[in-house]
Amino acid sequence: MTHSGQPTPLEARKCQSLTGRVRVPGDKSISHRSLILGALAVGETRISGLLEGQDVLNTAKAMRAVGARVERMDEKGAIVWSVRGAGTGGFATPAAPLDFGNSGTGCRLVMGAVAGCPITATFDGDSSLRSRPMRRILDPLELMGARVISQSDGGRLPLTLAGARDPLPIVYRTPVASAQIKSAVLLAGLSAPGITTVIENEASRDHTELMLKHFGASIVSVPDGAHGRKISLTGQPELRGSDVVVPADPSSAAFPIVAALITPGSDIILTDVMTNPLRTGLFATLREMGASIEESETRSDAGEPMAQLRVRASRLRGIEVPAARAPSMIDEYLVLAVAAAFAEGSTVMRGLQELRVKESDRLEATAAMLRVNGVKVEIDGDDLIVEGRGHVPGGGLVATHMDHRIAMSALVMGCAADAPVKVDDTAFIATSFPDFIPMMQQLGAEFA
Ligand code: S3P
Repeated sequence: MTHSGQPTPLEARKCQSLTGRVRVPGDKSISHRSLILGALAVGETRISGLLEGQDVLNTAKAMRAVGARVERMDEKGAIVWSVRGAGTGGFATPAAPLDFGNSGTGCRLVMGAVAGCPITATFDGDSSLRSRPMRRILDPLELMGARVISQSDGGRLPLTLAGARDPLPIVYRTPVASAQIKSAVLLAGLSAPGITTVIENEASRDHTELMLKHFGASIVSVPDGAHGRKISLTGQPELRGSDVVVPADPSSAAFPIVAALITPGSDIILTDVMTNPLRTGLFATLREMGASIEESETRSDAGEPMAQLRVRASRLRGIEVPAARAPSMIDEYLVLAVAAAFAEGSTVMRGLQELRVKESDRLEATAAMLRVNGVKVEIDGDDLIVEGRGHVPGGGLVATHMDHRIAMSALVMGCAADAPVKVDDTAFIATSFPDFIPMMQQLGAEFA
């Protein structure tokens, strides 16, 4: 579990300006996938830039527990993670329950991989993860032949899953736009004979598809409907261990970006930020609000685009963010709400029902974070409406609810609020962005 001992509160005070050049850590989604695909491949996978946050380290542990050799190597100062896989369908029964701590992604993707192997594994996590719904993953995995041996409270952790001896390929339309559901089905489909198809009404992040292709699988993705996709994977490929370079995480970059936009005089550069269009809804939204975010040095690696971003303090105005954009910025609404509070006018964010089942109920938690700092905010069904007044009074104590992104969003708010903003616990920041506090301080943030 992530949390051991006493909570660690922190206060952010209004700072001068944020300046400098940083690289935020590796992308969390790609980091999880590189370890899991490495463990399902034959031969060595060498990963550079892996996010060494608690969530990903738990996935690394789980991959060791099912038989992969996972090593962290220091090659003359450059850290490389080496994974020697067990091959598709080759996982071994773990000796103890797999503990995913706070991580829904690690847990759900590994459930998919386990479902395609003839083994039994118990999945567990911290109290936040134990409260999150797993039925959305178990439903398609049961159709493929996996069996739930035991579960808590209608499909919650801890639960024990027996993988399918002879997995069936299925055609599955996901009930919500979720890359976790899609990825779990595709990972189970690796062991099924024939073609496994996932159809989604709104396209979700496609890192699994891109990485499967990189490892040698035959996978095709075509548009389906106005915003959707149909993804077809040919089962039983021989995945080859491959090199993976993990770009910087746009969801982590979101925090210094918003901090720079709202703190007058700021001018920062973020290097190697992944700019996969299925992840950059926040950048598009902030630009519509008037943000100065310039991209340069664009390039791509294994199908994942990246760029250097220069962000300068900007006057922001409130806008309406359509529901269709949610999948491309699902983890960024908390920090967008902070930007919206510093904007002039109201920002309406539509279609946020999925925020209720993240590390915390992020819809309620975002509203509470803003309210306690003097911002007018309303939840209307699944929409969030923030009344921006160009400044934020601050002075509040924010409850983080075991959620890293609430802690970081509140500290970002404190960089420019009139009075200091305090968070009750920063421990969970280590799940996704272990260096957040020193990196922000290096840019000029005042945290104490
Ligand atoms: C992720 C998918 C998203 C996101 C999560 C990471 C992934 O969840 O919120 O942080 O890596 O697949 P959903 O797919 O459930 O929306």
